[in-house]
Amino acid sequence: MAIPAVYIQELVARNDIYDVISRYVSLQRAGRLYKGLCPFHSERTPSFMVYPETQSYYCFGCGAGGDVIKFTMEMNSLSYIEAVRMLAQQCGMPMPDEDDGQARLKARILEMNKLAARYFHNCLKSDAGRDARKYLRDRQLSDKTIINFGLGYAPQGWQGLCDHLRAKGFTDNEIVTAYLGARNKKGGIYDIFRDRIMFPIIDLRGNVIAFGGRRMGDEGGPKYLNSGDTPVFKKSNGLFALNLAKKSGRDSFILAEGYMDVISLHQAGFSNAVATLGTALTQQQARLIGDYAKKVIICYDSDEAGQKATRRAMDIFSKEDITVQVLAMEGAKDPDEYIKKYGRQSFELLLEGANSALDFSLLKLKKQYDISNAEQRVEYLTKACDVLAGLTNPIQQDVYCSRLANETGTDKTSIKLQLERTAARRRRANNRKKEQELLHSGVGSKIKVDYRQKGNTMPKAYAQQQIICALVRDNSLYSSIAQRLQPENFTDGDMRRVYIRVCDMLENNIPATYTTLSGRISDSAANALAGIFARNADIIITGKDVQMHIENLLTAKLSQSEASEKTLDEMTERLKLLKEKKK
Ligand code: CTP
Ligand code: MN
Repeated sequence: MAIPAVYIQELVARNDIYDVISRYVSLQRAGRLYKGLCPFHSERTPSFMVYPETQSYYCFGCGAGGDVIKFTMEMNSLSYIEAVRMLAQQCGMPMPDEDDGQARLKARILEMNKLAARYFHNCLKSDAGRDARKYLRDRQLSDKTIINFGLGYAPQGWQGLCDHLRAKGFTDNEIVTAYLGARNKKGGIYDIFRDRIMFPIIDLRGNVIAFGGRRMGDEGGPKYLNSGDTPVFKKSNGLFALNLAKKSGRDSFILAEGYMDVISLHQAGFSNAVATLGTALTQQQARLIGDYAKKVIICYDSDEAGQKATRRAMDIFSKEDITVQVLAMEGAKDPDEYIKKYGRQSFELLLEGANSALDFSLLKLKKQYDISNAEQRVEYLTKACDVLAGLTNPIQQDVYCSRLANETGTDKTSIKLQLERTAARRRRANNRKKEQELLHSGVGSKIKVDYRQKGNTMPKAYAQQQIICALVRDNSLYSSIAQRLQPENFTDGDMRRVYIRVCDMLENNIPATYTTLSGRISDSAANALAGIFARNADIIITGKDVQMHIENLLTAKLSQSEASEKTLDEMTERLKLLKEKKK
């Protein structure tokens, strides 16, 4: 869907980049820009910049950059359209595509889902559902639980639900769009869910938005079959039982891996349990949990895969304002099995003893070493310092140092010394990495220079960037630039494509700002552009400068050593000095 440029402009005007980003990142003012810790990579000194003037952001550490829409996309793992929709909702703008057709389709799908859930539930109670009822009984689910979760049974056969929905007036197309039916080769449709226990996914308003279906035996396709994305459902945003957990009124949530774990937990009284829907936790889901809970206890399966997923989830939660704990479960593969084996009280004890995320990491580490052995003890301490060097809170660092000292019978001061060394080493490595990244992210590094010439010439790459930067900042420079430069004069692919796009927009009287542009150019170009704005944040590029750059681009040869040895930052710095001297 093409969204009109004027709409995007309005949207961006109403969603100030500072306002939006400061919801996720704590920003400090630094002159005309804001600084903060980059949300896209982990760092301890801020290299993430927000530029109100161009309404863009750029991280000098990891090279992430863009406008408010790009930020929203990256931060929440959304597509362009979804990000636009999210921002539109936040500022109360209607979506251009939310016409009656779309809204009506959504309402139809929700209606179908409701009917389907009721149909599945009735099937469970009917003769056809005898085996399913036995299955649920064998898994020790009470009638109350079955009703609480609205569980059902999708019968065998290929047409049951499709026929039922058709009889209620829904078209084949609608049924397919709702992911309840699929097309066969002859163009007819058939039930997607067959001979499965059905778990409805319910949103916070009580709408049935999707289904998960479990097979009962060992055969018959995958163990679980889930609805695909539909206009009312996005798998990576959904959480199973969020509707119930929210009502639990508790300020901590339990995050489990599976439907059955959640159901078991609720049945045992832990009504604050939720699960993702068969996918790894996304930032979006973590944020959603953070919206309703102050603390989350990760309770994944105890197998290798579950532990790996735990570490991943810890990382994701660390970007949210939420306390994270990890449950260490032994003697059972998942919470469902644990509760059945050891009872609810035992699980309650596990919950109370849940470790902080940091404890979890240290515990894992400790298990790998025999600390009665001096050599291994040193190794353990070194690795533990690696973990602790990531802490920003000195008090916390101190507490853990004491603990390590006690645990290993080592002098606390020497542990602290080691910790400081590790932290310093990490800082140095970070700086080096930053330098390297800047060097490689510069377009200069991509340009092949085959001859050299004496004299003071700036890299062509730099000239191209300055011209584009000036032009996007000030569209009135267009005619004077277009007179002299053809797209072919831009040797850097990204800059050439940006130039073509800008020309195209301006010829059609569409203002070319960073915002209107970034939706129309590739991600890499948008990113490069954000970097250019960032590097030029406090540099004024005059019309005269632009002419100089054009001259440079058209005539000057570029010296190899200059192109390869200078980072773009250095170039920027040098130009600034030159200009100051002139004044
Ligand atoms: N899952 C899925 N598709 C599969 C297998 C699993 O979508 N083929 C998802 C489901 O959401 C499932 C979760 O991953 O709930 C965890 O998988 P698993 O541990 O295998 O299932 P349980 O929920 O524990 O179910 P059960 O106790 O019935 O084995
Ligand atoms: Mn499981």
